[in-house]
Amino acid sequence: MKALVLSGGTGSRLRPFSYSMPKQLIPIANKPVLERVLDNIRDLGVTEIGIIVGNHVEEIAEALGDGSRLGVEITYIPQESPKGLAQCVQLAQDFLGDDDFVMYLGDNMLPEGITEAAAEFHALRPAAQVLVAQVEDPRAFGVAEVDATGVVERLVEKPPVPRSNLALIGVYFFTPAIHEAVDSIVPSARGELEITDAIQWLVTNGSTVRAQEYRGYWKDTGRVEDVLECNQMLLDGIERRVDGEVDDQSVLIGAVVVEAGARITRSFVEGPVVIGAGTVLEDSHVGPHTSIGRDCVLSGTHLDYSIALDGATISAVRGLHGSLLGRSAAVTGIDLASRHHRLVVGDHTRVEVAA
Ligand code: TTP
Repeated sequence: MKALVLSGGTGSRLRPFSYSMPKQLIPIANKPVLERVLDNIRDLGVTEIGIIVGNHVEEIAEALGDGSRLGVEITYIPQESPKGLAQCVQLAQDFLGDDDFVMYLGDNMLPEGITEAAAEFHALRPAAQVLVAQVEDPRAFGVAEVDATGVVERLVEKPPVPRSNLALIGVYFFTPAIHEAVDSIVPSARGELEITDAIQWLVTNGSTVRAQEYRGYWKDTGRVEDVLECNQMLLDGIERRVDGEVDDQSVLIGAVVVEAGARITRSFVEGPVVIGAGTVLEDSHVGPHTSIGRDCVLSGTHLDYSIALDGATISAVRGLHGSLLGRSAAVTGIDLASRHHRLVVGDHTRVEVAA
């Protein structure tokens, strides 16, 4: 079995981050989503992984290299423009050959892994097996209509009136039967080759497609709110480890990770929190549910339920909550007596201030 990981796409919902970095490399509890995806695939014993990459190819290749650091073997497959999930399968046909494969969306988080789902696919080996989860509002998803034995009767992409609450989540198991399907469909109204159409083609042409309900935690990290929620969820599972320097005027409560080379002075850290190597915290209150990357500087700051990427600096700003700060972003408080705020804000940036 091989794996196909989709790491192209536009990432428009994660602007401005997706302008300068692929959203799949956004760190959750200080480890990129894409690395967590590859960990789950390696846990299946699958090591030959094709990764679909778009315009952020260099950065992804720099982060993952040939995969040997993660115990896998990566083949990069370029996609000129994001023309849909089924187009990704077409582009990977040479790489996939006649093997079964798992297709995994590179921005999807399933921290409990997919080994059980893979076992069911291997045991029953339908033409395709999709993972589904119950959602409150299925209208934004591909929706599966499934019989009592788990066989898919119909798949509809973003139905206005859904006939089931089972949404397709970002993991699919395929036999080579999918190749004829992706070559037989036409682009949808939004101009993409939809994987739901290809799987529906299998159903229509008499192949067995099964759905397995995934009951673990699952999150598509497509929006800032999702990234923060997922960060909270993963931080809830960390254990305390203090390798950096903490002075005796600082207090660390609960599950706090301080990586080697980080320095905490006169601060209060309320876990769960991770603090990356080389980061300096002084006169600050951080956490709970906060991840600080490497080489950040936080002084006189109060920050919770947030993520700061590498090199971010925050000084003299209290009450920061639910924030995502990009690499080397700077947030600075000025004298309270001043009647001005000064903002240098890039395209599609979102700022909410107490006024
Ligand atoms: P989406 O999140 O559905 O699409 P997107 O990345 O374009 O995001 P947005 O809607 O915010 O603009 O894509 C799911 C995953 O599949 C994601 O990791 C990107 C990847 N993908 C590709 O690699 N190629 C494609 O053609 C598409 C549509 C998505």
